[in-house]
Amino acid sequence: MSVRVAIFISGGGSNMLKLVESMTGDHPARPCLVLSNDPEAGGLARAAALGIATAVVRHEPFKGDRRAFEAALGEALAPHAPDVICLAGFMRKLTGDFVDPWKGRMLNIHPSLLPKYRGLRTHARALEAGDAEHGCTVHEVTAELDDGPILGQVRLPVLPGDTPETLADRVLVEEHRLYPAVLRRFVAGDRTPILLEAP
Ligand code: GRF
Repeated sequence: MSVRVAIFISGGGSNMLKLVESMTGDHPARPCLVLSNDPEAGGLARAAALGIATAVVRHEPFKGDRRAFEAALGEALAPHAPDVICLAGFMRKLTGDFVDPWKGRMLNIHPSLLPKYRGLRTHARALEAGDAEHGCTVHEVTAELDDGPILGQVRLPVLPGDTPETLADRVLVEEHRLYPAVLRRFVAGDRTPILLEAP
């Protein structure tokens, strides 16, 4: 019986696509749902084209009532019975009420070397700090933003002349390598961190 993975997106879903493409053959998991808070998210069409069930739960109607939004998330998830949730470019903060029951079964990818640069503008902040290296992290999700146990990281050098855009492009390539590798190890029950260096 495969491990059922739901993937949350808010945008293009490039990480979602790499996760989906990795879950084939003898991989212990299969995607069961791609969910977005944004009906315009490009990743929804990409997932549907691959025959994966999709769902949209817009946050705007809940006017900041996070608990009501998260209850709607739970209702959208239930029919698909996921065992694991992967956040992949999902841009809504989740409260402990939603996250706690998924403790140890929810992952996120963040474009920095956590615990550095939680939150947004990670590439710009690394450049502003003059960091010699940067990268991405896959971690277990807890009620604290970008704070759970680290399951994988890729480090890469910051190059002379890098802009937030050029850095983001190089980091994204490594996200696409790291997240599938971590998920495969995670669903096999191995939480040993994967620590990689990018060229
Ligand atoms: C990526 O940079 C990821 O690190 C962040 O969201 C961005 C977009 O991801 N969480 P995707 O292309 O929608 O997967």
